Amino acid sequence: MRYPTILIAALISLTLTACSEPQDTRPGQPVDHRRAAFKKILLAFEPMGIQLREKQYKADRFIVQAKELAKLKDGPWQYFGTDTNYPPTHATAKVWSEADHFEADRQAFLQAIDRLVLAAESGEEKQVATAYEAVHDSCRKCHKTFKQ
Ligand code: HEC
Repeated sequence: MRYPTILIAALISLTLTACSEPQDTRPGQPVDHRRAAFKKILLAFEPMGIQLREKQYKADRFIVQAKELAKLKDGPWQYFGTDTNYPPTHATAKVWSEADHFEADRQAFLQAIDRLVLAAESGEEKQVATAYEAVHDSCRKCHKTFKQ
């Protein structure tokens, strides 16, 4: 099928608009760093979920993956400094105005990951699935208030 040039031009400009988020030009680029750290967490987290959903749980592999996630769990937090609420962030202002609440959600996430590693070491699929869901809940809970 052939598309008229004008349509293609419109599509290209749409794509460009979608990519033209403001750049993080601040010294040290804290927003970029924390977003990259969350992306790494997501990339480590997803394969475990796929494995469980597709009924392909392999205890040995899962332990390695859970430990990989545990290594990444501290990545984003040091980049949430006091003056770091600016574009292109997707954090809400509540990260800073409800700091205690944010910290509580962060602690719940860290503990959920520790429990996931323990469950992985048990090799019990049911326990692993429950622990995985608890980590997932901790992501969702924090995002509900603190991410837009
Ligand atoms: C204590 C709060 C908290 C927890 C827990 C948390 N996140 Fe986030 N997450 C955030 C905030 C805040 C942002 C927005 C960061 C920004 O844009 O500055 C974010 C952003 C992200 C992003 C977007 C990164 C980007 O490219 O902009 C991904 C993906 C993500 N989180 C995945 C996860 C996953 C997966 C988990 C759980 C395994 C998780 N997060 C747990 C607070 C949290």
